[in-house]
Amino acid sequence: MRQEKRFRPHYFLLTWHAGEHGGGYVFDITICQLYIMCIITAGCYICTIPLTEKEVVTMPSITITPLAPALGAEVSGVHLHSALDNAIITEIKQAWDKFLVLRFRGQSLTDPQLLAFSRLFGELDPPGPNPYGKPFLEEFPEINVISNVKVDGVPIGNLGDGEAVWHCDMTYVANPPRAAMLHALDVPPSGGDTFWANMYLAFETLPANLKAKIEGRRAIHDATYNSAGVMRKGMKDVTDPREAPGAQHPLVIRHPDTGRAALFLGRRRNSYIVGMTLEESNALLDELWAHATKPEFTFRQEWRCDDLILWDNRCTLHRRDAFDPTVSRIMHRTQIKGGPIEAFQPSPLAEAS
Ligand SMILES: [Fe+2]
Repeated sequence: MRQEKRFRPHYFLLTWHAGEHGGGYVFDITICQLYIMCIITAGCYICTIPLTEKEVVTMPSITITPLAPALGAEVSGVHLHSALDNAIITEIKQAWDKFLVLRFRGQSLTDPQLLAFSRLFGELDPPGPNPYGKPFLEEFPEINVISNVKVDGVPIGNLGDGEAVWHCDMTYVANPPRAAMLHALDVPPSGGDTFWANMYLAFETLPANLKAKIEGRRAIHDATYNSAGVMRKGMKDVTDPREAPGAQHPLVIRHPDTGRAALFLGRRRNSYIVGMTLEESNALLDELWAHATKPEFTFRQEWRCDDLILWDNRCTLHRRDAFDPTVSRIMHRTQIKGGPIEAFQPSPLAEAS
């Protein structure tokens, strides 16, 4: 009776192997018992996998590498031309909040792919009026072109080859963009580097007497000139900064995503601190700008083709070096709509401590 049981189909594998090696032990178990053994064995194996190995399997595979002590990080291990996993998008956004400026190298993107990646960060914000009064790319008016190249004597983009002074983008409107991206299509062998400065750090390290002077103050953000010093279409020269056209914003803002305080300067030309004499305003603005643009608050980007840089426009300033006018530099740029700019209100607890 016992011999018959050994050769029932659900015992076959065990008995066959035993027989192949000259017979010997045959396990007298049922299929149900076999399944339970397999589950227990698999469970024991999973529990033996080290935690780090499990993390490698389940975490997104991107790497974030800081680029400078003040701000900036490189994101590698991701290709922006295809749809991104939600976990990776979340990790990129967290890194953006932390480092303010993110660089992605080796990103050969079409304009639609650049637009698709940009939209992950919010609704696109069309470029501000350029000196030529029409979009540089008729097919993609949401994309601005930053270039010194001319075709038949006509510029294909903005800002030429000169220096672009320190500024924050489009702060002359009530709701400036929250973010911007530059995608490098053609870059000179040297020159044309872009710098960003961390305005959280600038505020946190501001001397107490300057903090006291700007508390509750607002400034006019002039709309007349772009960062290359070219007058925008429809504007006229400003002789008195107190009458400059443009939005007024608090000098210290609360970042809407992080809640942190940031110095919010816009651009120096024709700026004016409301309620002061022009002399007082100019003297204080000069002190603030000298502090905010100290090298220790900055990151320098030396461009390569196919670099893409994303930055937070509410807590950084940026500027660009001049470059050789005989070489070409072409960037495609997008920006993301922002909300109202709010003054930073220190909490009573923070003040008391
Ligand atoms: Fe800019």
